[in-house]
Amino acid sequence: MNVFLIGFMGSGKTSLGKKIANKLNRTFIDLDDLIEGKEGKSISELFSEKGENYFRQIEKSVLLSQSKDKEVVVSLGGGACCNEESWKFMENNGLIIYLKEKPEILFGRLKQNKNQRPLIAHLPDEDLKEFIDKKLSERSIYYDKAHFVYEKDKSSFKFLVKQINDFL
Ligand code: S3P
Repeated sequence: MNVFLIGFMGSGKTSLGKKIANKLNRTFIDLDDLIEGKEGKSISELFSEKGENYFRQIEKSVLLSQSKDKEVVVSLGGGACCNEESWKFMENNGLIIYLKEKPEILFGRLKQNKNQRPLIAHLPDEDLKEFIDKKLSERSIYYDKAHFVYEKDKSSFKFLVKQINDFL
């Protein structure tokens, strides 16, 4: 069974995903890296040259092309889980973990790292805060349905690994 890691930009999915994969002795896959490899373009180039709708289609098809029998840890871009088809696919083919982080922490991280992220690269800091609040509340409809919600300051990594192992 696969492990899918979801959460907002800047929540630390990639580093947590690598840590989980290492602990479970599994391969780690970053969905954005797969998209960039498949398209031969960076995520920023895809957004600027082809637009967000095109990116979302590719993002969905790359996720859905993951083999159902795989036993990998997949980290998804922040918006990748937010449609019915992708959600159903993940639900039927793995364990979904939401890495939850407070909006003020996300803001602190994202304002230092806007350039590589096409959705926020153009936003002044005042608007970034509002963007995070709005998108988080829209996306929480999906995020909050995850099998597990992991908040780093509320529970330990060891406990998360135990929960995953019990589930798998
Ligand atoms: C996006 C998040 C990004 C990337 C793209 C869109 C989003 O991934 O997929 O820029 O819609 O939240 P990360 O969450 O890994 O930054």
